[in-house]
Amino acid sequence: MRALVRETRLHTDQLVYPVFVAEGLAAPRAIGSLAGQSQWTDDSLVGHLEPLVTKGLRAVLVFGLPARKDAEGSAAWDPEGVTPRVVRRLKEAFPGLCVMGDVCLCPATDHGHCGVLGPDGLPVNDATVALLVRSAVAQAAAGADFVAPSDMMDGRIAAIRAGLDSAGFPNTGILSYSAKFASSFYGPFRDAASSAPQQGDRQSHQIAPSQGREAVAQSLEDERQGADLLMVKPAMPALDIIAALRGASRLPIAAYQVSGEYAMIEAAANAGWLDRARAVRESLTAMARAGADVLITYYAAAILRGEIALDEE
Ligand code: PBG
Repeated sequence: MRALVRETRLHTDQLVYPVFVAEGLAAPRAIGSLAGQSQWTDDSLVGHLEPLVTKGLRAVLVFGLPARKDAEGSAAWDPEGVTPRVVRRLKEAFPGLCVMGDVCLCPATDHGHCGVLGPDGLPVNDATVALLVRSAVAQAAAGADFVAPSDMMDGRIAAIRAGLDSAGFPNTGILSYSAKFASSFYGPFRDAASSAPQQGDRQSHQIAPSQGREAVAQSLEDERQGADLLMVKPAMPALDIIAALRGASRLPIAAYQVSGEYAMIEAAANAGWLDRARAVRESLTAMARAGADVLITYYAAAILRGEIALDEE
């Protein structure tokens, strides 16, 4: 009877699996802050994904971690850099897999910020956008189905759309981190990507958690600029934004269950304080119920492996 009247159903088709690939590793390295997640080498990532793709994994979001960092984050917009290389490799190995590439400078800057810095120590918007466009074009040339700018500079979606179109990639989609809050829940990710700012924070460009209307307005602005898919991040602390955006936009919406949300569930489950599978299912159901179509989660692998069932009992 409950199945008959169920309002919200989850399916593996909705999942996006974020993966980290580090340059210069001889073997995969477990990420301490993200139990069960690793920094992969190119080869080991393909081996890791193979059974998941066979079981129906539809999409991955690639975070390339370059060995070389500098003030301009040049490894992030190098056409031969780690992310384009991995994108190309994955499209060769799994032509039907939807491959998305993270577009940001922070894993490649020696200061850890998401852009090139001005004299005040803050990212300079337009100079950064120009480099993000180069990064997006490099990933599109490598075969990325989507580029996913996570930097939060103003005007980047229009610039990336124009850059992709003029470089001959009109069919490469843009997944915009359109409502990305300046959140404490990214802590474990910054450990995984060694991308924490050396000084300062990201409040000059990420949205303050108090700003709900602003988050919706920024997302609608990204829609106007040409985004194909909007994102709310973090997910559980921003279910209200997912719901508001669902009413305000006709685009598909992605919810990113970020590293801190994953780490909280893992820590409590490992301590025996909550049931991992039920907590994961309930959190993802809440995101879908709020209006998310796409669910970006580090749990995608465990779900595909059948360790966590998406169907309610
Ligand atoms: C980089 C970026 C971050 C995340 C995705 N891309 C961290 C940040 O903004 O500092 C967070 C993902 C997660 O926490 O799982 N711009």
